[in-house]
Amino acid sequence: MSQSMNYAVRNVSISAIGMVFLVLAWVKNRLHGYSTPNLVASEDVDGKVEYAVHTAGAWRRYLPSTIQIKGRDVLELCPGSSLGTGVALLGMGAGSYRAVDVFRLASTDDGTLFDKVLDLLAQDHEAADIERARSLVRWPDGHFDYRVDRSFDIPALVDGRKFDLIVSCAAFEHYDDIDATIANISKVARPGCVAAHIVDYQTHSRWVREHDPNNIYRYSESLYRLFSFPGQPNRRRPLDYVRAFQANGWKNVRVIKAQTVPLADLARLTSGMASPFDRPEMQMDVLAGVVIAEYP
Ligand SMILES: C[S@@+](CC[C@H](N)C(=O)[O-])C[C@H]1O[C@@H](n2cnc3c(N)ncnc32)[C@H](O)[C@@H]1O
Repeated sequence: MSQSMNYAVRNVSISAIGMVFLVLAWVKNRLHGYSTPNLVASEDVDGKVEYAVHTAGAWRRYLPSTIQIKGRDVLELCPGSSLGTGVALLGMGAGSYRAVDVFRLASTDDGTLFDKVLDLLAQDHEAADIERARSLVRWPDGHFDYRVDRSFDIPALVDGRKFDLIVSCAAFEHYDDIDATIANISKVARPGCVAAHIVDYQTHSRWVREHDPNNIYRYSESLYRLFSFPGQPNRRRPLDYVRAFQANGWKNVRVIKAQTVPLADLARLTSGMASPFDRPEMQMDVLAGVVIAEYP
């Protein structure tokens, strides 16, 4: 059998399997609502600590090296199950941290986890910043906040504040309308603000993701939308983010590739994509990326 025939046969079977998972995810959401913000179990405190420190470290690595975290007012979109990322940013010297979300999955009252985040960071960061962070999370005084509202009206959720850094991780791919969210964060960005958003473009059902990370792109828009639910991966691609940030006046907008399909699997895992994901500008080799944008 030729290689392309091989792919065609595989595409039919993996699409059928993916469809089953798509329907199961839809049924699960209908029965239980939104759940499982990431792969770390909610009772695994050490896992959450590690995840938070890792995520804050990733923002630091991907932000331009000229941009400091120290003294900056930071807004995080959708922190999920813990505010450990915010605590880590304060430990790195951030001036203040506010998180906004659609679902109340985290708490500002997670002392053990916050202490562990700062203990872990203490090895590499200034003692004064770590101690300031310890006191801010205990007595926040407006410097460590978390607001939740189903409407996700970001300007309303931040009470008129403006920010120097706006970050998120594994959140944007869940938004119903990324253009509206980007328009909203543009209203709360200070001149000179930098945005760093880690986006996971892949299929989220675990088994399918491991075998066929681009599976969600195998279905037509109408079929995919038939089984849509709040928080379902929205299938927006890197170019959609670049366009949306640019349309709101952001400059130097780029998507840094954080994870790509291994070269040996590229033809197999990018064949059989539905329209418009079969076009080169969709960059189907990109599995995860970091959207960086600068507000003039
Ligand atoms: C996969 S979690 C990621 C959380 C966290 N940043 C992390 O890295 O673990 C997705 C986040 O997006 C939020 N979210 C889910 N559905 C949403 C929707 N339809 N609109 C806006 N936010 C949504 C959730 O509340 C959650 O905080």
